[in-house]
Amino acid sequence: MKISRVESLVYGVKDVDAGIRYFEDWGLPCIERGARGAEFRMPSGQSILVRSAADPALPASAESGSTLREAIWGVDDAASLEAIGAELGRDREVGRDAQGGLHARDETGFAIGFRMAAPAAPRAPAASSRMNRPFDPERRARPRKVGHIVFSIARGDLEKATAFYLQRLKFRLSDGTPGGNFLRCAGTHDHHSLFLLSRPDRRAFDHVAFEVRDIDEIILGGKFMMGRGWKPNTSVGRHILGSNLFWYFDNPCGGRTEYYADMDQMDDDWKPRIWEKHPGYAMWIMDKDELPGLTHI
Ligand SMILES: [Fe+2]
Repeated sequence: MKISRVESLVYGVKDVDAGIRYFEDWGLPCIERGARGAEFRMPSGQSILVRSAADPALPASAESGSTLREAIWGVDDAASLEAIGAELGRDREVGRDAQGGLHARDETGFAIGFRMAAPAAPRAPAASSRMNRPFDPERRARPRKVGHIVFSIARGDLEKATAFYLQRLKFRLSDGTPGGNFLRCAGTHDHHSLFLLSRPDRRAFDHVAFEVRDIDEIILGGKFMMGRGWKPNTSVGRHILGSNLFWYFDNPCGGRTEYYADMDQMDDDWKPRIWEKHPGYAMWIMDKDELPGLTHI
């Protein structure tokens, strides 16, 4: 059983037009727009679907308003899909759609799905030298892939939520803290593809992170978003756990989105770190006033 990555994210949104505009400005290519909403397809082959919150085809959510309604994971082959179906079928309902995709709920009730990972578009070779090549990037972001998603978990449920992904779906632990657990699926070296964030009393979707090239693309993308009227949720910084550079924005589709770059890479030699005290949110952040009062980590 090998889960490769986040494959597709399905949002249910109150203001569908605003949601579509947001992801267009975020830098995702829209491949289809119609009465049901829009579908964005990234160069990685991953997709984002913006649907009406009232769409009866979407899985129900305990959250009201705009939010993520289903997180679909991509797997490497048909045998993995069958293995996941058999494993989850032992103690929960597993639906199967017309394309063979699976649909279920995780241990704390988030709707999850599984299907074969789509192929990525061929990548243009990067310039090997700066010689006679002035730096002149596009003044906005064009994320290449979705790297991770984050769910807030009510504090008492963190252990069982984590065990589900580790034991049933073969995720690996990168860092475990009292504030939450950073997990990576089998097909990635990224420090986390799923962060389960411990909250005193709340179970909710928190954010999805899109990888960009570097700090320039984070800042150019964020400034473009602000110019289009979207609101930053943090300033630019670098996390401690995962070490990624970041900038978060409030998403009208629900939760936040994050531009990130330069995340730690882990392989089988990585020994999970268990922290008795959380080492902190950021090693630096542009607006230092954000550090003491931050409620999200
Ligand atoms: Fe993140």
